[in-house]
Amino acid sequence: MKKKISIAIDGYSSCGKSTLAKAVAKELNYIYVDTGAMYRAMTLHAIKRGYVTPEGLNEEALINDLDNVYITFQYNPVSFKSETCLNGTVVEKEIRQMQVSKHVSPVSTVKEVRAKLVKLQKRLSENKGVVMDGRDIGTVVIPDADLKVFMVATPEVRIQRRYDELISKGVAVSKEEIKQNITERDHIDSNRETDPLRQAADSVVLDNSDLSLDEQFEFITKKAQELISNGEQISELQ
Ligand code: DC
Repeated sequence: MKKKISIAIDGYSSCGKSTLAKAVAKELNYIYVDTGAMYRAMTLHAIKRGYVTPEGLNEEALINDLDNVYITFQYNPVSFKSETCLNGTVVEKEIRQMQVSKHVSPVSTVKEVRAKLVKLQKRLSENKGVVMDGRDIGTVVIPDADLKVFMVATPEVRIQRRYDELISKGVAVSKEEIKQNITERDHIDSNRETDPLRQAADSVVLDNSDLSLDEQFEFITKKAQELISNGEQISELQ
């Protein structure tokens, strides 16, 4: 049987992590876990329940309600895509709206929210054969991942990518709004107390500012295939 590895992909907002992670998971026949979608679903829950107020996030109310939040993924056989569900309802489209993007970073700073989602993510990765993307995957969720990638790209490229993505999904948004949102999220994600975005010491940096998706894909799958076949050679020797 082929050796299975785990791949952790971290990086700033809109670096193209999920597009690449999905393509790599498909190639290797691994599961793909979008951890940002889990924080987004949690944020949608907080908005729906009225915990996000003009004065800010009501952390206490959200923490007290955490046991009632069920976040799962469900395969859609029509679109061939995995979709995020919140308490049994598909919320894939809603969680990509700017309203959620605006509040997701403050929700992600809440220690209890992270504890709940990290526990779930660790469970999803325990059998390897996984490609997971987020902010703390190589540092906290899968610290022993076989391959850790830290993705970076220039702010201009990231803004353009997010703009194209949202426009293609029919979301009305301006580049200025995206710039503000990305800058604010990067700041909160990198400076929060619990599990901030950090480059894992044993990660490889992938600057994709000037790379096509094919080039990025080749970079990662080559490294992954090397690790998979090294593991097979070692087990043959044992
Ligand atoms: O990957 P994304 O842009 O959809 O993530 C949305 C937010 O979720 C991001 O700004 C910070 C938070 N997040 C996090 O704190 N930890 C993760 N592992 C993934 C996302």
